[in-house]
Amino acid sequence: MRKINTLKSQKSKSLFGIINLPGDKSISQRAVIFAALCLGSTKVFGLLKSKDVLSTINALKTLGVKIKFNAKICEVSGTGGVFKKPKKPLDLGNSGTGVRLLMGMLSSKNIEITFKGDKSLSKRPMLRVMKPLEKFGAKFKSNKGKLPIKIVKTNFLSPSTIDEKIGSAQVKSALILSALNLHGTSIINEIIPSRDHTENLLKHLGADLEIKQKKLVKKIIVKGPQILNKKKIKICGDFSSASFLIVAAMICKNSKIVLKNVGINYFRIGLLDVLKKMNGKFKILKKWTENGEKVADLEIKSSDLEGLKVSGDISARLIDEYPILFVAASFAKGNSEFHNLKELRYKESDRLSAMAEALAKSGVKLKQKKDSIKIFGSNAQNGGVKIKTYHDHRIAMSMLVFGLASEKPITVDDISMIKTSFPNFAELLKKIGAKIKHVQK
Ligand code: S3P
Repeated sequence: MRKINTLKSQKSKSLFGIINLPGDKSISQRAVIFAALCLGSTKVFGLLKSKDVLSTINALKTLGVKIKFNAKICEVSGTGGVFKKPKKPLDLGNSGTGVRLLMGMLSSKNIEITFKGDKSLSKRPMLRVMKPLEKFGAKFKSNKGKLPIKIVKTNFLSPSTIDEKIGSAQVKSALILSALNLHGTSIINEIIPSRDHTENLLKHLGADLEIKQKKLVKKIIVKGPQILNKKKIKICGDFSSASFLIVAAMICKNSKIVLKNVGINYFRIGLLDVLKKMNGKFKILKKWTENGEKVADLEIKSSDLEGLKVSGDISARLIDEYPILFVAASFAKGNSEFHNLKELRYKESDRLSAMAEALAKSGVKLKQKKDSIKIFGSNAQNGGVKIKTYHDHRIAMSMLVFGLASEKPITVDDISMIKTSFPNFAELLKKIGAKIKHVQK
């Protein structure tokens, strides 16, 4: 049988050091896509070179956009949004953001384009983007609402007012990108708030985007058609990647780390609010703004975490951080509860089930319900198992962090997908002293 490389993490203490976070995945993908809509060359600094970002870049290249990059700069020669008909399907690999944003952007370009993705992306719901885009008049053919999906060539799109009710930044961004190319005014009503990187970066690139808050609804008014202004883009570090290091430092004894250049967009840092209430020890050392995004250096220390009942209102602000938060709750004193987790089931895997299975196998006592989970925390958790990750990068990274504090080591069945978001995850953990190593499967 072929032996495959995987990772094993072991009980560690005294994590210590300073880490420069790799670029934010959500912003990196938006940066290259929006730069393609500019006319001329846009220089992007600090781009994350992960598999998801590279899939998005390759798709743009297939559309005729010239993109070159070295270790420091990525240069996109924007076409002002004029794209050539691709000769092959656009393959977005594992990237939900890539496929959904490009579906939006290309839905109003009057070209026939087919999208495909890997096994995990092909299982994810796409009607949530197709249905609202159809309100503009866009047409799609799909495999029962899933990939592969074809945009049917049509010129009969017109501006409209559309409600985004899921609380998905991907859906909201797809709508904004489609509306940017329509003649007239479209209004996107955001009913449940979601991350606003699209709005921030589009404004940085000079887009005419009016935002009005009417009670709980955010109205995004887009006047089209628009060509964006090229401008230098600097990308901050990814809070979602930082979250693994934050929890690692909190659950490993005698630790103190500094994370530099971390994006602290309000809609991304729900984890900090929750950890603070759980008695997590961290402080913001320095704070500044870059391209409309708040950025900070953070210091994190070992913490005696306490269980917490977390209400569902915050779920959009920590949606990608639930797996690692469940790990923090496992090592906390007392019980924790998390509610309104339905969206977790539609990520790269069904993250609620995958985490409940992984934690239970590792000895954590828990109760999983339809859209909630209760975790009975304890500072001594067993570990000593191999975890099924369902090809989900965040399950793999979360459980490897679990293994840094459990009595016995954790191995994961697959590490290949960690490259989609955080290619140097293991390297950075090792740098601060975590016991994590490559082993044969
Ligand atoms: C993302 C938005 C979130 C998040 C995903 C990235 C984005 O998804 O889970 O990892 O880049 O806009 P939804 O917007 O669908 O919740």
